[in-house]
Amino acid sequence: MSQINFYPTESSQLNEVDFNNIPFGKVFSDHMFSAVYEDGEWKDFQICPFKELTMHPSMMALHYGQSIFEGMKATVAPDGTPLLFRPEKHIERLNKSAERMCMPVFPEEVFHQAVHKLVGIDRNWIPSREGSALYLRPFMYATDKYIGVTASSTYRFLIITLPVGPYYSKPVNLKVERKYVRAVKGGVGEAKTSGNYAASLLPAKLAKAEGYDQVMWMDAHEFKYIQEVGTMNLFFVFKDKIVTPATEGAILKGITRLSIIELLKSEGHKVEERPLAIDEVKEAYKQGELVEAFGSGTAAVVANISQIKDVDIDMKFNESNWKLSSRIKSFINGVRIRKEKDRFGWIVPVKEQVSH
Ligand code: COI
Repeated sequence: MSQINFYPTESSQLNEVDFNNIPFGKVFSDHMFSAVYEDGEWKDFQICPFKELTMHPSMMALHYGQSIFEGMKATVAPDGTPLLFRPEKHIERLNKSAERMCMPVFPEEVFHQAVHKLVGIDRNWIPSREGSALYLRPFMYATDKYIGVTASSTYRFLIITLPVGPYYSKPVNLKVERKYVRAVKGGVGEAKTSGNYAASLLPAKLAKAEGYDQVMWMDAHEFKYIQEVGTMNLFFVFKDKIVTPATEGAILKGITRLSIIELLKSEGHKVEERPLAIDEVKEAYKQGELVEAFGSGTAAVVANISQIKDVDIDMKFNESNWKLSSRIKSFINGVRIRKEKDRFGWIVPVKEQVSH
């Protein structure tokens, strides 16, 4: 066990929060975890009051983009035990992102200890309503004070937490992106790195100006195969099968995506992870073979797609058919609050509940 020092806040903000009306991404809990990487090792593990950070103007993350993050969720059981959803998958993915971005991996054991302790300390910040959660944002960035393209030798790793409701409060309509690309095989599309999200902003802004919520990314070589939405992975429900694009290096390996595949396969559904051409989707839609489409992600959980617009087609999805996605969403949300049996072993109860 590593030593994690705890410095409690002197003024909790908990009473300021309206748990019936939580805007996503704007409300932060009382404490955060912090660690620094220096001289080749991670050290100075602490949980301290949530506060602003100081930085040098040449801090390398700002200039050269060595910055990665995760998004995970904590919920609460009816008996008050805080619960984590697949934390081991999140540290695994964080460290894969770190390797790709030439950053140091974070010790798994310290990560688990930090998450348990932090969530245990701020357990009263976990919303109890189904579909809501305490969103955990672990992130790492380069801190060397240096102008020059090289990997930093120092880093900071933090975990901040936010009570949240669903990321999308209504079904999502998508525009097929025909000009810009998100990622190429061999690039950084599989890493959860900040630049991937920055690159999505202009196309998303243009799509929003036309009335769409987001763009649907296509492969960067031929604009033929569907990738993801940027905030979510994608699933297409055909009459005889469910298809999700194979990640293959350019698509984020979603943990909700993985959980959905496990659930559907266990129920005997035919699930295919493979390159999915947009033409196959269009053809199935025209033939009445495409039943529904939905997105999956930690923040979004499961988001119904109401429309996919391409240059030659406007596919509309009828709410009365959103049966599979509704069931998956309610299963995942239900497992998270122990309303559904955790038959896949996704849930990890929080071990350490420090009083302060
Ligand atoms: C997540 O789903 O956790 C993400 O990081 C995506 C973002 C839309 C919040």
